[in-house]
Amino acid sequence: MLILGIESSCDDTAAAVLRDNVILSNVLTSQDTIHSKFGGVVPELASRKHLQAIHPVVETALQKAEIALSDVQLIAATRGPGLIGSLLVGYSYAKALSYVNGQPLVGVDHMAGHILSVFLGGKSPDFPYIALIVSGGTSSIFLAKSHTEFQLLGRTRDDAAGEAFDKIAKLLGLGYPGGPRVAEQAAQGDPHSISFPRAWLDENSLDFSFSGDKTAVLNHVRQQQSKGLDLRVEDICASFQEAVVEVLVSKTLLAARQHHIETVVIGGGVSANSRLRLAFTGNCLEAGLAFFAPQPNYCTDNAAMIALAGLHAFNQSGPTSLDADVYSRSQLG
Ligand code: KG4
Repeated sequence: MLILGIESSCDDTAAAVLRDNVILSNVLTSQDTIHSKFGGVVPELASRKHLQAIHPVVETALQKAEIALSDVQLIAATRGPGLIGSLLVGYSYAKALSYVNGQPLVGVDHMAGHILSVFLGGKSPDFPYIALIVSGGTSSIFLAKSHTEFQLLGRTRDDAAGEAFDKIAKLLGLGYPGGPRVAEQAAQGDPHSISFPRAWLDENSLDFSFSGDKTAVLNHVRQQQSKGLDLRVEDICASFQEAVVEVLVSKTLLAARQHHIETVVIGGGVSANSRLRLAFTGNCLEAGLAFFAPQPNYCTDNAAMIALAGLHAFNQSGPTSLDADVYSRSQLG
């Protein structure tokens, strides 16, 4: 089946064409340069830019896949979660295509895309698996039972992990998006030089909290400045990253133990972080668990994962009504 995937949940406009699970094209325009001067995504600007980009991005994806729009057999578009103004652009565009051309439309939960992105090339896991999804908008642990059945086991009670990386980067003047820049600095620093808090919450809890780390970094910066001491940005980044990585890895492995699952998968923008990938590789090996991570270019938002999740959702439940609306909070539970 030829699937056109469309993604516009945050600040990337993306389209992809898949023939079943084979990627024929995967196109993305990033708005990083627009939002970088604000240190984060400005929703109003994001939706305006999606409006300009959506048609050319879809056209390019079709051209690169060497197919015509009339060849498409299924349109899969992100319905949520995300910024409502951004989602409305991509999803309304997808609805219009579906209505005019008579092709079925399936609305996709962005989280399902991240949970399945590990199937886009490389070695694939067997079900069931524990999926840690960490991005700018979420930090959640799911039990993935099949391509369409996901049980939410834990989530952040405040900031998402990626959001914490972005805020620390802003505080340290490193720019946006913060994750890759903090990681770059961290590679030069000592991860044990500053002791930032690890929020374990209640014993056995699979929820996260990262706002304490953000405050701890802010307090550390203020303290150093008040003493007239230089900021060791590399050490701050390395110590902060280590605190986040330790909690993410520990709670994901705890989820695997609690549910007697032998496979761990990660996804979302933060899963591109090489320290996180290394820590998972080592800890899973030690615990006798199989570990899978998506290729780095499929960790961050992309439309290929939306097309893939859409294909499975369509095969399971058929098309989504054109009356269905977008939503801001994930409906996976
Ligand atoms: O999945 P994604 O593209 O978008 C959302 O759905 O949010 O994730 C973007 C987030 C940003 O917060 C970005 O700073 C973070 O992922 N990120 C990273 C890295 N690359 C991207 N965080 C830590 N280390 C990285 N290498």
